[in-house]
Formats: sequence, structure tokens, C-alpha cells
Amino acid sequence: MTKAVVLGAAGGIGQPLALLLKCNPLIKELSLFDIVNTPGVAADLSHISTPAKVEGFLPPDDGLKKALTGADIVVIPAGVPRKPGWCGVRWHIDCLPIVKCRDDLFKINAGIVRDLATGIATVAPKAFVLVISNPVNSTVPIVAEVFKKHGVFDPKRLFGVTTLDVVRASTFVAEILGDLSLAPSISVPVVGGHSGVTIVPLLSQSSHSLPKDFSESSLDTLTKRVQFGGDEVVKAKDGAGSATLSMAYAGAEFATKVIKAVNGEAGIVAPSFVNLAADKDGGDALKKEIGKNLDYFSTLVELGPEGVAKIRTLGKLTSFEEGLVQAALPELETSINKGVSFIETPKL
Ligand SMILES: NC(=O)c1ccc[n+]([C@@H]2O[C@H](COP(=O)([O-])OP(=O)(O)OC[C@H]3O[C@@H](n4cnc5c(N)ncnc54)[C@H](O)[C@@H]3O)[C@@H](O)[C@H]2O)c1
Repeated sequence: MTKAVVLGAAGGIGQPLALLLKCNPLIKELSLFDIVNTPGVAADLSHISTPAKVEGFLPPDDGLKKALTGADIVVIPAGVPRKPGWCGVRWHIDCLPIVKCRDDLFKINAGIVRDLATGIATVAPKAFVLVISNPVNSTVPIVAEVFKKHGVFDPKRLFGVTTLDVVRASTFVAEILGDLSLAPSISVPVVGGHSGVTIVPLLSQSSHSLPKDFSESSLDTLTKRVQFGGDEVVKAKDGAGSATLSMAYAGAEFATKVIKAVNGEAGIVAPSFVNLAADKDGGDALKKEIGKNLDYFSTLVELGPEGVAKIRTLGKLTSFEEGLVQAALPELETSINKGVSFIETPKL
């Protein structure tokens, strides 16, 4: 019996994500929490003829606590999305301030994630936590630091959701191969982190090879398209937010993988941004491979009943991919440290 909770369930990602989870037969209870609109979203979803019982909660009357009680898996898409150029971001509630720059966006999302993580650490410390709220490279360390403060941190149970990068890479490769029907079966490991240059698609390890005459410049263009795919959506939405529907699909895919693995299904492997202490041997081998002592990295993770079962190393890379990994490391390190210090020095 799986109880899934979505925190930020009334948002652009939260609503379609909740819909997809409601359609998942493995989920028997679905709790939705947001600062607005969850009773309506829950009432609407509750009419769908699938097994999950849906309830919606708001902050009053201990809503967060009620939503989280008995949670097996918690998915967090709460926060503020970016808009073109990361500037002029406006919260969709008029009474809240206009957010002017990337750093303000960080502070708002970091604060939201910190407070929600405190709720999880207190009410459902054993739940598997899947973080969607950006910047994932910082928000995952934030959740970990909050859990450490409460003495309940288990690195095997915390995941940054990078699945959208994987989904995009598979789709773009299928487009290049001229057959979109291949997209669901194409798998491309995407490693590193989850923003811009920290996103490293390992196209040489794609389950379906690129055409033999695929040029170096085409490879560069495809790599950049995966790294900055979010910008395409932000631009096309023209001020109305960032990727929501594709992100909901990706979030539901990853949540389903975690639930299946926890239920005992073997052989489930997916990239995720994890704390490398989740599998000491695998984590140490990965650190050696990248030549940097980072605490977090996105890589292929073997999932099991306890969450992370094994962290895989990157394997054989081309010199182009090695360059991408090295280029990702400085920004990754800065973002991880920013998340950690947000909790250590909360006045930031
Ligand atoms: N990981 C990824 O690949 C990925 C992709 C796209 C977007 N994102 C991120 O996901 C987040 C949400 O994006 P969106 O487009 O759904 O934004 P949105 O503004 O449409 O929805 C966010 C929701 O969070 C809610 N919220 C705000 N504060 C909250 C709190 N304290 N508790 C509970 N809920 C709260 C809001 O009320 C809103 O309903 C953003 O941080 C965005 O950058 C991540």
C-alpha cells in the first residue's frame, strides 16, 4: 500500500503530476498539499475511477502534518518557476512580491523547500523524498541538511529529479533518428547536475546510436539542446512559466520507478541527483573518476527496497564528454555549497 504526497500540488507541475499519480494503480492514497487550491484539485481528481483515495490540504489546521502522516513517498514541486532571463518573475498570487533576479528566486525556493523538508523530517522521516523544485543542485542539499539537523538523514532515500533531462535526450535522439515511436525505448544516461552546463548527456552511451555521419558540430548542438531544453519551453511560454507538463510526466515516471523498486521489482536503474554517501563504494569510485570530492552528483542509480542500492560510475567517456564533465564541476560545487550554507546560515 503506497501513500504518495505532492507538496506544491496546485501548481503548473503539481496538478498534472497529481493527475498522473492518481492514474498509477500502485498508489492507494494520494495527499495533495499547497498554500492554495488543493481542496478543488483533490475534489476534481477524486472523481477519476482509479484506486487512489485523494485528499487535499492547506496550511491551516495542521494541513502539512495531515498530508504527510503515513507518507511512503513525497514529491516536491513547490516553488517559483523561472521566466525568460530569470528576471521579472512574479508569483502568481498578487499580494506576494515581484521577484527580480535569480538570487531572489533561489532564496524563495530554498526557504519553501527548507520549510517543507522540516515538515517531512518531523512527520514522515522514513519517506522517500523526490525533489523537483529548482535549483535541484541546491535544493537537494538543503533537504539533506534539514534532515541532518533533525537526526533523520538517510542518503538512500533522497533524490533530485533529473528525469526531464533524460526524457528530453531520448526524445531528441528519436527525432534525429526520424522515428518518434522509438522515444520510449531510447535510454541516454544524463549525469552531472540539473542546470545548464552541469547537465551532461552521455550520448555515446545511448541505447540507440546516433547516425554514423553525425558531425561533431551536430553533437555539440544536440548536447546544448539537452542542457538548455528548458529555455525552449520558457521562451515559447512567453512569460507564462517553465516546463510543467513534460516535468510532470518525468516526475511521475521517476516516482513510479522508485515505488516499483521499493515494492521489490529488481533491475530498475535511473539517473538521479543523489548524495554520494548513499552507496559509499560506488560514491567513492565516482568521486575518483571525476577527480573531485563532491558530496552530490547525478548518475545512474540502481534502485532497491531501501531506495539507492548502488551508485554507478560513469563508465567509458569520449574526450568530448570528459570535457563536459569537467566543465560542470565548478558550477556544481558552487550550487551544492550554496544549498548547504543556506541551512548553516539561514539569514543568507
Ligand atoms: N526538476 C526539474 O526538472 C524542473 C522542471 C521544471 C520546473 N521545475 C521547478 O519546479 C518548481 C515548480 O514549478 P511550477 O511551474 O509548477 O510553478 P508554479 O508556480 O506553477 O507552482 C508552484 C506551486 O508551489 C506552491 N507553493 C508555493 N509555496 C509553497 C509552500 N510553502 N508549500 C506548498 N506549496 C507551495 C504554489 O502555490 C504553486 O501552486 C519550480 O521551482 C521550477 O523551477 C523543476
